[in-house]
Amino acid sequence: MTKTSVLVVDDIENTREDIKRLLHFEEDIVVVGEAGDGEEALRLAEELNPDVVLMDINMPGMDGIAASEAISNKMPDTAIVIISIQGEPEYLRKAMAAGARDYLVKPFSSNDLAETIRRVNNSYKVRATKINTSPPVEEKPEVKQPENRIMVVFSSKGGVGKTTISCNLAVCLAQETGKRVALIDLNLQGGDVTVMLNLSPKGTIADMVKEEEELEFSLVNTYLVPHMSGLKILPAPLRPEEAEAITAGHTEEILKLLKKNFDYIIVDTPPLFNDLTLSVLELADDILLTFTRDLPAIKHVKTDLEVLETLRQSDKVRLVLNQSTLDYGIKISELEKRLNRSPAAILPYDEKTVLSSINKGHPLVLTQANSRIAQSIKSFAREFYLPESGLEAKENTKKSIVGRIFSF
Ligand SMILES: Nc1ncnc2c1ncn2[C@@H]1O[C@H](COP(=O)(O)OP(=O)(O)O)[C@@H](O)[C@H]1O
Ligand SMILES: [Mg+2]
Repeated sequence: MTKTSVLVVDDIENTREDIKRLLHFEEDIVVVGEAGDGEEALRLAEELNPDVVLMDINMPGMDGIAASEAISNKMPDTAIVIISIQGEPEYLRKAMAAGARDYLVKPFSSNDLAETIRRVNNSYKVRATKINTSPPVEEKPEVKQPENRIMVVFSSKGGVGKTTISCNLAVCLAQETGKRVALIDLNLQGGDVTVMLNLSPKGTIADMVKEEEELEFSLVNTYLVPHMSGLKILPAPLRPEEAEAITAGHTEEILKLLKKNFDYIIVDTPPLFNDLTLSVLELADDILLTFTRDLPAIKHVKTDLEVLETLRQSDKVRLVLNQSTLDYGIKISELEKRLNRSPAAILPYDEKTVLSSINKGHPLVLTQANSRIAQSIKSFAREFYLPESGLEAKENTKKSIVGRIFSF
């Protein structure tokens, strides 16, 4: 059995000892080194090439955030897990932006610790297993990569859950696959992806198109904002008047560049058919047509389907029924009859989970992973986008570590 190698970084020796003790009986995990500050962590990470680094934040000299940034830049295959104490949300966010993959809040059990290590390591498993002390080997992953996909979440009606679904689906794919996932907020006049994910962008798509006439991936890449799940986000303009600067030509270019560099590209859209949404729908591999279980929404989705049929895009459609309540909504059988199709996903109505997730900026698939709505989004993602990883993915949902610790 190849063990998962771990480097423990904490300035307090007792804490390092505690962590080693907690991992002592885990047969598949081995602590290969320990460091007392950021510089030593970086040096040992390069020397030992561990699968996972457990990183304290507050340390003298180079702190955990700077060390995370240096390690994730130099060694993108090494997953960093931040160890923090309650009440450090600002630092945690910075650490996540610096490339940390997950985090644990003290005190944690050996089970929490081991599961987090296994989970972050699994999601980095595209690379081949490596031996602790040997230098990294250039290897091509053996698994056959599915074709890169653009998934456009659309409805000509507002308020049906497009943004909620875009964010959670994107986070879920990033978290569970460890693949390259991008989320583009094309709701140019009222995008709220960064609010839902609690990110503060330094620049947006509007600043980007102003910068260069000819867009290149290197430029797009600098505007992508990292989320703790591994997801990268291209934010919508901060002010509605900035939307004008972005043309359908721009979004086409951006999507083509992203498709070459990401495995999954999820696009959130405004509730209308216009030049821009039509060109995006044309580039989509899948159109996740979202609706709710009320008459106006069903009328909209029926019209949307007709328009997409006229445009010869209806084959790409997957219907996503959101806010589904058994008690008041139109019966599914009735709805299938009207639309002549069945929903690919049915997400329950759950105001409490959705609202608290949106207001905190914590995606529910991470922080409320056991809720029915999170499970429904995950099942949808697995069924359509990661059929080969069914078993492993199920393992991962047994317990949501992030869910339990994300309560600050
Ligand atoms: N499954 C759900 N259960 C309860 N409320 C939901 C659900 N999905 C979305 N909502 C609520 O609906 C509102 C609109 O969601 P949003 O994702 O912004 O829709 P859109 O992007 O289509 O305009 C949000 O306030 C959100 O709280
Ligand atoms: Mg929206």
